[in-house]
Amino acid sequence: MCTVACLLALFVFTSPAAHALDNGLALKPTMGWLHWERFMCNIDCDKYPNNCISERLYMQMADVMAKEGWKEVGYEYVCIDDCWPSHQRDAQGRLQADPKRFPGGIKKLADYVHSKGLKLGIYADVGEKTCAGYPGSLGFYETDAQTFADWGVDLLKFDGCYMDYTLLGEGYANMSKALNKTGRSILYSCEWPLYEWPFRKPNYTAIREACNQWRNSADVYDSWSSVKSILDWTASHEDVIVPSAGPGGWNDPDMLVIGNFGLSHAQQESQMALWAIMAAPLLMSNDLRDICPRSKELLQNRYIIAISQDPMGKQGYRTAAVDNFELWVRPLSKDRLAVAVFNKLEIGGPRVVSFRAVSLIAVPGWKICDPQCNVTQILPRYKEIGVQTPHSEITVSINPSGTALLTVTPRQKLYWEDTPKRHKRIIV
Ligand SMILES: *[C@@H]1O[C@H](CO)[C@@H](O)[C@H](O)[C@H]1NC(C)=O
Ligand SMILES: *[C@@H]1O[C@H](CO)[C@@H](O)[C@H](O)[C@H]1NC(C)=O
Ligand SMILES: *[C@@H]1O[C@H](CO)[C@@H](O)[C@H](O)[C@H]1NC(C)=O
Repeated sequence: MCTVACLLALFVFTSPAAHALDNGLALKPTMGWLHWERFMCNIDCDKYPNNCISERLYMQMADVMAKEGWKEVGYEYVCIDDCWPSHQRDAQGRLQADPKRFPGGIKKLADYVHSKGLKLGIYADVGEKTCAGYPGSLGFYETDAQTFADWGVDLLKFDGCYMDYTLLGEGYANMSKALNKTGRSILYSCEWPLYEWPFRKPNYTAIREACNQWRNSADVYDSWSSVKSILDWTASHEDVIVPSAGPGGWNDPDMLVIGNFGLSHAQQESQMALWAIMAAPLLMSNDLRDICPRSKELLQNRYIIAISQDPMGKQGYRTAAVDNFELWVRPLSKDRLAVAVFNKLEIGGPRVVSFRAVSLIAVPGWKICDPQCNVTQILPRYKEIGVQTPHSEITVSINPSGTALLTVTPRQKLYWEDTPKRHKRIIV
């Protein structure tokens, strides 16, 4: 199913990424939890004491992350989104947390999160106001960066509402410098390209120099149509965005909505598999205090996380779209590949697809499956498919809107070894 177009696509993206922001962070895609999609701007703590944006929410999430295996598999950042601050800055012009919902203040919350071995993320906006109308950072970049550093914050999500688009680049770059000036390493998550695309093509070289990750497309919702439209956007812009990703800076297709209400299990598997292929930050937005075991198992799947966190840090991309199947491939370290076969048809039952390993060996110098490779299926369930040659057919069965995720590992040193009993073929 890999066509000539697919081979061309693989050649295009082998160019090295531009210089990344040099703050020592995001060498692998960020993993953690971010409140927005699930908890939005719920500030009514009388009616929703457990689900309102308050210090309690983040403390409880940190507790669960430390206790229930999340931290162990790599989820590290507990991130606040919009609606945390007071509507007024303090007498020194500093942002302050809403005193009723954050009685201890952010510094104490950061200490608490750190005591669990986790990191705290916060949110602000490059413009005059945040998207929900709280004070923006325009004119206060250095003050706000210093405030966050003083509090012990570890990540800043910097939104782009209420900002003149001609000043976006300057604003994001200025905040990057302000963060650097504090001397504290703070992971810098930008929405710069998202807000620039409606007016002009963003400069991804400049974005990568300033930011550790950057949102390109609209906010994710708890629905399959939303996840699909993000994947379609990514595939149709892959020639522009894929080369800019690498250790230190990543394209951010927004939060994982796995474990909520809107996606079937097959769709949750597709989001997890394709976010790993895209080298996307894995920022869950769900309620970890109450999540179904199957979703938890998927989010904690070590094989998928290993693909996401592959040290080579190359983003994968769609290489073919045929007959309502899409083939996405991500080059991994040690000449391995991750392959996702995505069934986009939303009617009928499982569909079976076969492809030859040789269709995956288009990267120059890539010795995959030559002479042999080992193929392992990770989704929909773990299975050793076994040794393949370039021309053997790999067959998978995929539910509607589901994804088969595979890894392909070369077995290159082929030789024969005599044993007393028989002529045995050994492959190292
Ligand atoms: C600030 O930038 C310099 C130069 O790029 C870099 O060496 C340093 O580590 C940065 N510091 C922080 C705290 O990000
Ligand atoms: C960015 O910083 C430069 C240099 O200090 C300043 O001239 C410019 O106005 C700043 N732009 C924004 C949007 O803050
Ligand atoms: C993009 O940004 C880089 C780095 O800041 C700069 O050198 C380059 O000239 C910019 N490209 C365009 C087309 O503006």
